[in-house]
Amino acid sequence: MKNIQEFKITQIKELRAYLKEKSMPAGLKKNAALEKKLLAGLQKEAAFKKIPIIDVTTGRFLELICLLTGPKNILEIGCGNGFSSYFLIKNLKDGYYTGIDLNQDRVKRAERFIRSKFPKKQFKFLTGNALKLIPELQYNFDLVFIDAAKYEYPQYIKTLENKLESGALIIADNIFYKNKIFKRETVRHDLNSIKGIKEYIRYITDSDDFSSYFFDIGDGISVTKFIKK
Ligand SMILES: C[S@@+](CC[C@H](N)C(=O)[O-])C[C@H]1O[C@@H](n2cnc3c(N)ncnc32)[C@H](O)[C@@H]1O
Repeated sequence: MKNIQEFKITQIKELRAYLKEKSMPAGLKKNAALEKKLLAGLQKEAAFKKIPIIDVTTGRFLELICLLTGPKNILEIGCGNGFSSYFLIKNLKDGYYTGIDLNQDRVKRAERFIRSKFPKKQFKFLTGNALKLIPELQYNFDLVFIDAAKYEYPQYIKTLENKLESGALIIADNIFYKNKIFKRETVRHDLNSIKGIKEYIRYITDSDDFSSYFFDIGDGISVTKFIKK
């Protein structure tokens, strides 16, 4: 690979790709090729099974937030086959991860994948409806990643409120929903998803309990800090 000084200013695309490649925690650089291969396998499997998953940039964003904040209790709503779970769990030290998904096959796959990759980390995967399971959980969370049914986003955040530590971060994916939330016309099929996302955005921005930031990463990400009054 080239040295950074060898790029011309016009080679923005190449420079972006270079920085993306270099953007990795020190200890992992030597394992980067291995990690890429591992993730590519799961991405291929997800594409084959038509499971929509986050892109790697979003994954790196989650990884960075976990690295910087050191969460003690992570909850993922919609863990799919474990691709996004990988980035959330990777920097977990003495913390605990709980992943929920409606689809049993995906949950089993996620559990197998994470156990093989991180045998010493503390985690559990639950099959079922997050709206039913969350109130039954016996502990609170300081980091939540929402990536499930878009029309249910407002219900997830409302269900979560008694389960959040003060200062908890709630990260939600698909906030721009392929830029469809900015369009005037909506096809019928997307109506409920778009309504759900807009209501979620309104909820996290209207309330004094939340401070929210929006990032043009992947399909649009919101990061919300919850402060218990
Ligand atoms: C976009 S996929 C998750 C992909 C995963 N986060 C990733 O990026 O690797 C959405 C998942 O949410 C799950 N889901 C939808 N509604 C749910 C609910 N109410 N409770 C739990 N899981 C749900 C679906 O079964 C699906 O696997």
